[in-house]
Amino acid sequence: MYRTKTCGELRAADAEQTVTLAGWVHKNRRMGGMTFVDIRDRYGLTQLVFNRETHADLCDKANTLGREYVIRVTGRVKNRQNPNEYLPTGAIEVIVTELDLLNPADTPPFTIEDDTDGGEELRMKYRYLDLRRKVVRENLELRHRMTMEVRRYLDQQGFMEVETPMLISSTPEGARDFVVPSRMNPGQFYALPQSPQTFKQLLMVSGFDRYFQIVKCFRDEDLRADRQPEFTQIDCEMSFVEQDDVLNLFEGMSKHLFYTLRGMEITEPFPRITWHEAMKDYGSDKPDMRFGMKLVELTNLLRGQGFPVFDTATYIGGICAKGAAGYTRRQIDALTDFVKRPQIGAKGLVYARIEADGTVRSSIDKFLPQAVLQQMKETLAAQTGDLLLILSGENTTKTRKQLSELRLEMGNQLGLRNKDTFACLWITDFPLLEWNEQDQRYYAMHHPFTSPKPEDIYLLDTRPEEVRANAYDMVINGVEIGGGSIRIHDSALQNKMFRLLGFTQEQAQAQFGFLMNAFKYGAPPHGGLAYGLDRWASLFAGLDSIRDCIAFPKNNSGRDVMIDAPSAIEPSQLNELNLSVTHHAH
Ligand code: AMO
Repeated sequence: MYRTKTCGELRAADAEQTVTLAGWVHKNRRMGGMTFVDIRDRYGLTQLVFNRETHADLCDKANTLGREYVIRVTGRVKNRQNPNEYLPTGAIEVIVTELDLLNPADTPPFTIEDDTDGGEELRMKYRYLDLRRKVVRENLELRHRMTMEVRRYLDQQGFMEVETPMLISSTPEGARDFVVPSRMNPGQFYALPQSPQTFKQLLMVSGFDRYFQIVKCFRDEDLRADRQPEFTQIDCEMSFVEQDDVLNLFEGMSKHLFYTLRGMEITEPFPRITWHEAMKDYGSDKPDMRFGMKLVELTNLLRGQGFPVFDTATYIGGICAKGAAGYTRRQIDALTDFVKRPQIGAKGLVYARIEADGTVRSSIDKFLPQAVLQQMKETLAAQTGDLLLILSGENTTKTRKQLSELRLEMGNQLGLRNKDTFACLWITDFPLLEWNEQDQRYYAMHHPFTSPKPEDIYLLDTRPEEVRANAYDMVINGVEIGGGSIRIHDSALQNKMFRLLGFTQEQAQAQFGFLMNAFKYGAPPHGGLAYGLDRWASLFAGLDSIRDCIAFPKNNSGRDVMIDAPSAIEPSQLNELNLSVTHHAH
């Protein structure tokens, strides 16, 4: 038998038992006539003791054990004289009487510790060793518990998990597809799903009523901390529902996850704010609501006072950073540099401090009389000790976005974005369409199957950009955790959407004929949503990147450095696939 106990389970009550343990050598140290070896497995760490006086041979053998050797030991559990209160097994140690070396190990390229000396690239190359580290393993354990709780909850609510195919044709979610050549159909390609969107809608036509799937999705887009080319969705769809039904059910699931995974009981309903409100108050469709610091428009107050930058602005807005009036010149300069960074693109930053006597001192005092500054203070509900930060610009949306970045930065600087605090909300009433200046056409903001609000349908022909969609996102701490919509279930309306999106009748038929046909055979009203599992798990685990809760993630260039993918394939394989590569990167 390899083991009778794991390395994480022995306690004081087990003293005097004889046990067999198996695991990895974590540490090996000699002290006088004793050798201490920490043996580690997924469940924990146990101290082994080899005593030269009683077992000289064993002690010699123990001294040859290197880090990460795989061993099996048998021995007697003893209470420790000096218990280690930081270790769950710290009350005991095992006095070894038998030792088997099951497999030696090369010296690992980095230390298997919470605080490792290995850099990112090295850890990814040896990810299987990285996964031995407790901090990394715990993220994956949390992810596992999360999928278990999702399945439990949705099963209880009558949802049925159905697998949908991975080799499909393109699903339009706005990113590029990953494609797979078909050997049996020369010159033709499958696409990997960006999401199971059309399939889950077809399952509603099939009468499955409540579907879910924990499913891999693939998108060939530029990578960021919260994006991977392959990621996992908790994908859901329901029939005979309106928006509120969907939001209520998934708010229930979210609260269940908070309770079971983080021990947090949320009794309040999640706030629901419209997309327009979110853009106006936070300059973002995924506001971080852990703190206030709303954007306040100051255009009418500050334009026309003689400050040229403001006088030519379309939008002027400010935020009030509570208690930050003590910011030094250098700190403000750093904020100015921050907003001027190309990714943010503001031209400059105006600031004002509320002094102890209530007067306002701004960086452009010579243009703004105290009466105007006092009005500004009132509009922003500012008090003594506060710092006001003001941006202006020719494009309202752009300027609000810049202010939104500044708000988040101030939230960071003032310690308002604590990782153990969670603020959830729903954003509703997204615009149905988005105009793309470059392509001179509309794109669906969510996807082409999203239903317009019935009361806005009359605008589809005349002012399409004003049409609101029955679409919603769930946001936690400024991260878009999930999104979905009520779908179009009427083939005539769906056709109209395709026309608006610039599809010809033939193109729509060729790409989505199967769905339009299905809609002719009794499609129930339906809607749903999909959560990003990686994003949610990393949020619960307090991680900065979703990579850390994925067992084998890709790096920033979309590469798996461990298996060296993607890679070139043999000419014979290309031949078989009827492919030839014309551009080689050198
Ligand atoms: P959407 O495109 O909003 O909706 O995706 C749903 C959720 O998936 C997560 N997500 C990602 N996570 C990691 N890496 C990525 N590259 C990535 N892209 C998206 C986000 C996002 O909120 N079919 C629709 C859902 C529906 O309408 O039911 C869809 O895929 O958390």
